[in-house]
Amino acid sequence: MNEDFILITGANGEVGHGLIKHLAKVGHKKIIAFSRRPLSEELQPFVSHPLAMDVQDLAGLTELFENHNITTVYHLASILSTKAEHDPVLAHNINVNGTMNLLKLCAMKMEKTGKPVKFIYPSSIAVHAIPNLEVKAQAGKVKENDYVQSTTMYGINKLYCENLGRYFNSHYKQLSYAPDERPYVDFRALRFPGLISADTMPTGGTSDYGPEMIHAAASNRHYNCFVRPDSTLPFMVMPDAIKSLVMLHAADRKRLTQTVYNVTSFSPTAQEIYEVTKAAFPNADIDFVPDVNRQGIVDSWPADIDDSAARKDWDWQPDYDFERAINEYLIPAIRQRYA
Ligand code: SER
Repeated sequence: MNEDFILITGANGEVGHGLIKHLAKVGHKKIIAFSRRPLSEELQPFVSHPLAMDVQDLAGLTELFENHNITTVYHLASILSTKAEHDPVLAHNINVNGTMNLLKLCAMKMEKTGKPVKFIYPSSIAVHAIPNLEVKAQAGKVKENDYVQSTTMYGINKLYCENLGRYFNSHYKQLSYAPDERPYVDFRALRFPGLISADTMPTGGTSDYGPEMIHAAASNRHYNCFVRPDSTLPFMVMPDAIKSLVMLHAADRKRLTQTVYNVTSFSPTAQEIYEVTKAAFPNADIDFVPDVNRQGIVDSWPADIDDSAARKDWDWQPDYDFERAINEYLIPAIRQRYA
């Protein structure tokens, strides 16, 4: 019971794959990792406790906290934006109730042991909604508190959970404890842009046209891109996403001036993603066939975000700009994957 454990939820997802391999590589041996389906065989060697579990299963989670000294939670489990629009109630149950279950158990652990749990929470650009393309074009780098009137179930879920985290971080049971005696969860969130991994495909997201276009070209599949060529979103490749998660985890709490931080790398148009894909895979068979509804969601998300707070408070800096991301990471790794 004395050994420190890291708990990773949503471990089968694309961030889970990258994070688990990274943590194992730097020497973490005590990792409990679960997804709703059994943990992928590829990940099993890297974790001490591979499980199949649902974040809605409070009894199962309680047992995990009772039997292991969980000191860090990477809460990755989430229903992404496109899937959430098809089943908003399921999205709420997993995205919100699952997060609440974990925050509650972390707070209870601190009440019992006096030691805070570090809770790392990936949020998303989906918390923003910009009213129209003219405003989007003029908005420039959007800050954490700008345009936070999300129109998607996923974005609304993420925004609420950021606020829940802020509550558990600073105001938990504020009437029962003096301010400096309050138990807390050391909650830290970052807002990811669209993510692109060479190893895995995202499922159920709206920024998925980026990774889908490249993976389809590399595997000789036709692809209908569901947004217009001029569509612009911020993106980041998986190595930088993992870097930001572990940097935020390692950051000195005294330097953190906010609980939620933007992080980003580059903001290509869909046309620019098409062009670099075509340059690498000349036979790529890609058409632009915009889907009016998914296009509406992409148009409402910022084209660029301001991550200066993360740069200032915990020295965040991405390693990959668009050029490096494509030429030094994505194309070589994806080529190898489909070779
Ligand atoms: N990639 C996510 C989605 O498209 C946004 O964070 O849902």
